[in-house]
Amino acid sequence: MATEFANFDFWDDSPIAAQLVDDVRTRNRLERSVFPRPRSARLISVTNQKGGVGKTTTVVNLAASLSTEGMKVLVVDLDPQGNASTALSIPHGDARKPSSYDVLVNDLPICACIKQSPKLELLSVIPSTIELASADLHLAGVEDKEFRIKRALDKHLATEGVHYDYVFFDCPPSMGLLVVNALTAANEILVTIQAEYYALEGLALLNDTVRLVKEQYNPSLEITSALVTMYDSRTNLSVEVFSEVKNFFPNQIFNTVIPRNVQVSEAPSHQETVITYDPRSTGSLAYREAALELAKRGVDG
Ligand SMILES: Nc1ncnc2c1ncn2[C@@H]1O[C@H](COP(=O)(O)OP(=O)(O)O)[C@@H](O)[C@H]1O
Ligand SMILES: [Mg+2]
Repeated sequence: MATEFANFDFWDDSPIAAQLVDDVRTRNRLERSVFPRPRSARLISVTNQKGGVGKTTTVVNLAASLSTEGMKVLVVDLDPQGNASTALSIPHGDARKPSSYDVLVNDLPICACIKQSPKLELLSVIPSTIELASADLHLAGVEDKEFRIKRALDKHLATEGVHYDYVFFDCPPSMGLLVVNALTAANEILVTIQAEYYALEGLALLNDTVRLVKEQYNPSLEITSALVTMYDSRTNLSVEVFSEVKNFFPNQIFNTVIPRNVQVSEAPSHQETVITYDPRSTGSLAYREAALELAKRGVDG
């Protein structure tokens, strides 16, 4: 099966056949690969103040890819829209259910709201609710308002004997207190950039914000990863965006790009990640490759 198309080079003339051949090669490569386990938990905030650039999609699919490779993963949903919670099959929307809002505002311990994803054994989620949208207001005047998530997570890790290989923070499309809480709790930032016109717009602002947070609150914070999403190899625009991002983030850019892919966009409406919804799709393979790149970079530096 592994070689089913591999020798049919003449097929490369047709884009669909070329994609099939490519998918088979990627699957083979992934099957032969070992995902290195980080020595200590990697705390990664997926951040870009722009909306619709693939942050949530990236969080849930990297998290799912890593957990299917045996990594213990926690996703902290800090977006009031709760799309990460939904994609990981955790019901979202009931404000009475304990959530990341309660951790932020009501000092609820993480163990009281953490949920295990029903589809992925090693993946847990701190779900969000729409109440998060008012967290800024409720925290105004609170002394340690920038560190609420960090403190709760530190306590969770220290007192409950839990260990994670990866913790992902899904950020809302803004630069408010929710994002600052993600950036004080994390030590790595993964920026997702949609391959579109104006892709680089706002990256200078993002850099400035990160510098401020680093200076004032979290000296260990770095932008370590930049991932181009919704890439369309048939367009010059996508190719140009990739090379511009490479100039802007020469050390951070992932070689793997995430293609625009129907299965990736369909999966959330089935409360799934594309990794479980359609594991053989091009989108699923791309996210698994990106997860492998993330895992290797953490070890190789
Ligand atoms: N690779 C992709 N292919 C197709 N659709 C995608 C892809 N990545 C994201 N999308 C879709 O684009 C929209 C925005 O993505 P999302 O991850 O929610 O962005 P953000 O979290 O940055 O706002 C969603 O509808 C999502 O399903
Ligand atoms: Mg989102």
